[in-house]
Amino acid sequence: MNELERVNETVKSIRQKTSLKPRIGLVLGSGLSAFADCVEKAETFSFRDLPHFPPPTVDGHPGKLLLGQIGAHSVAVMQGRVHYYEGHPPETVILPTRVLARLGVELLILTNAAGGLKASMNPGDFMIITDHLNLLGFNPLRGENLEAFGPRFPDMSEVYSATHRQKLSALLTRMKIPYHEGVYCAVSGPSYETPSEVRYLAQVGGSAVGMSTVPEAIAARHMGLKVLGISCITNKAAGLSATPLSHEEVKETGQRVAASFSQFLRTYIEEL
Ligand code: HPA
Repeated sequence: MNELERVNETVKSIRQKTSLKPRIGLVLGSGLSAFADCVEKAETFSFRDLPHFPPPTVDGHPGKLLLGQIGAHSVAVMQGRVHYYEGHPPETVILPTRVLARLGVELLILTNAAGGLKASMNPGDFMIITDHLNLLGFNPLRGENLEAFGPRFPDMSEVYSATHRQKLSALLTRMKIPYHEGVYCAVSGPSYETPSEVRYLAQVGGSAVGMSTVPEAIAARHMGLKVLGISCITNKAAGLSATPLSHEEVKETGQRVAASFSQFLRTYIEEL
């Protein structure tokens, strides 16, 4: 079975349970899953019940797909995601993105928890992703290219839609929510970075570092979707603060800012 057949099977099983055609997709990062409460009339699917979806293994990632409404818009919300460090092959990491695209999603909003590489970044700050550095050590499109998904050599000169970035920055300014803009570096994890790696990432142009988002963004652009990326800076990157890093801190910061995160994201979608 090739990837197209696998994706089609998952789409078919979702279609058997709902006729909703989502236009906006959201992926909620570590500690940010409470946003799913904003989805009205939600039809909920556990990753476990979806063919070819891998079960989630990370605490803070519930592993549910919700299809429902936010304001006038039909949305598909991934409460949790699949990471490369969990041991899945790259094509499995991007399978949910391809499923969302084939369900009808045209705008994919990717959110994540990330470590801040800049001294000006503090836990709880938000960052609009302007671009990324793929330091995962692989490209998720490696292997046979299926034209039904997109071209062999997709352009990546504007992965994160300039229009959506401008709209979001206008909204955050209006809502008086401070934010950064910057380059997200994806590393494979699961160990956090060393202080030397953090200095290296800052020197090569990174603003924040995390272990997700980039495979999904590449797969989404391959399929012609628009992408908006938002990082929640959950901690200062290794060596930039006196305390050691922990997943607890990442989750706690996500939960601390959950209300303001949900508020601006919901407003952003409602106003589209
Ligand atoms: N590094 C990598 N991934 C992360 C971090 C970090 O500091 N914080 C949250 N996810």
